[in-house]
Amino acid sequence: MTSSTSAEPTRRDFLYVATGAVGAVGAAAVAWPLISQMNPDASTIAAGAPIEVDLAPIATGQDIKVFWRGKPIYIMNRTKKQIDEARSVPVSSLPDPQSDQSRVKEGHDQWLVVIGICTHLGCIPIAHEGAYDGFFCPCHGSVYDSSGRIRQGPAPLNLAVPPYAFVSDTKIKIG
Ligand code: FES
Repeated sequence: MTSSTSAEPTRRDFLYVATGAVGAVGAAAVAWPLISQMNPDASTIAAGAPIEVDLAPIATGQDIKVFWRGKPIYIMNRTKKQIDEARSVPVSSLPDPQSDQSRVKEGHDQWLVVIGICTHLGCIPIAHEGAYDGFFCPCHGSVYDSSGRIRQGPAPLNLAVPPYAFVSDTKIKIG
């Protein structure tokens, strides 16, 4: 006599498992576009969606350039020397008087975040160039200090500070 119950997987068991697996893959395939479309697409980001930037890889004395709303944004991790120099100049002597403190976030004083567009005619200044270890615009010679403030040359205004906030000690959200 043979038993009708068996521990061996049957052809029916296999079909159940296979059908379940195909169903799971199908559900994932349907869900992925839904999840994916929740993220802003490239055109939305280009149009001005906020961007988050991880500051952890930027060593003291270095800077990076990112793009927000199609504009170059410099993020500079300033040295103590750069901060001290920016704060030692009398604010009233500056062409566009602004204190360094008013251009950075309290408690994150080493981080300078500015729009990298020269306020003269719109060239992109070069970081860590010029007499003040800030920015130098090669187009007509404007020199900005380590707070992004205009110190020499034809540019009338300081480099603009974009709207941004710290979301953690090592991450900012611009926009
Ligand atoms: S555009 Fe920068 S100095 Fe003229």
